[in-house]
Amino acid sequence: MKLLTGNSNKNLSQKISKFLKNRLVNSSIRKFSDGEIYIEINENIRGNSIFVIQSVSSPANDNLMELLLCIDALKRSSAKNITAVIPYFGYARQDRKVVPRTSISAKLVSNLIAKAGADRVVTVDLHAGQIQGFFDIPVDNLFATPIFGRHVRKKIKTKNLICIAPDVGGTERARALGKLLNVGLAIVDKRRPKAGQSQVMNIIGDVRGKTCIIVDDIIDSGGTIVNAAAALKKRGAKDVHVYVTHGVLSGGAENKIKKSNIKNLVITDTIDNAAKVKNIKNIEVLTISNLVGEAIKRISNSTSVSDLFK
Ligand code: R5P
Repeated sequence: MKLLTGNSNKNLSQKISKFLKNRLVNSSIRKFSDGEIYIEINENIRGNSIFVIQSVSSPANDNLMELLLCIDALKRSSAKNITAVIPYFGYARQDRKVVPRTSISAKLVSNLIAKAGADRVVTVDLHAGQIQGFFDIPVDNLFATPIFGRHVRKKIKTKNLICIAPDVGGTERARALGKLLNVGLAIVDKRRPKAGQSQVMNIIGDVRGKTCIIVDDIIDSGGTIVNAAAALKKRGAKDVHVYVTHGVLSGGAENKIKKSNIKNLVITDTIDNAAKVKNIKNIEVLTISNLVGEAIKRISNSTSVSDLFK
């Protein structure tokens, strides 16, 4: 078994490599002066099972193309099988036509990954679980919930907790953490008047006097979380803590969080945000490396991945 990394999140790849005590394959990824990406694998990988680690994070188009070219290069170098390890699966939010005459990017990207030559996909907190069905190859969708659960137990000492889904689509995710922590659930009724804008219409559930734990898969502009936190406070919540798997953090979202009434935002390192959040006191980054590393180990040994979440 060998590990190959793309350029999107080398820090995470190095941590996974350390966890597995398995060095990264020697490769070079360069760009021609017109921007085309060029991949070269500098060692023999014939007959090996290769795990290529690459998040489809910003710049999403470059990182996606890099992933596809890595898979293609591995296939043409006679790898035995190729697993695309995509900690952040970008383009997943367009998973259906919400208005007429739009694309379904999640399906297109799934097709591209399979067509390039991947035999299996490993990812973390897919935006919607059913995207697994867009592939005709196995997909292992890992969950950050156990990591978040351990952090809540260690850091938030009050017993008066409630988990919050910031929109109806996030109910299952918030319920899973609520079940783990043995606490109740409330749901924010969020509307999107336009892409990139969010509005809180209502809160379903009683949050008065409670410490709220908002759980989401993605924080992008920060609008969803900041608006939800403000609405919860208005309804009498004591404190608001937020746990989000993928810190997309576009358009200065980290500063929005800094100025908000959110006590603490916890994200994982599926996207490399180290530089962006370095000076933001209420943002904390937890690593997902051991979870991804353990999943890779289990796939490699043909043992159960789902047992990780029991
Ligand atoms: C939406 O369905 C997602 O789960 C996130 O809530 C959304 O992508 C967050 O976006 P933003 O931070 O821009 O409001």
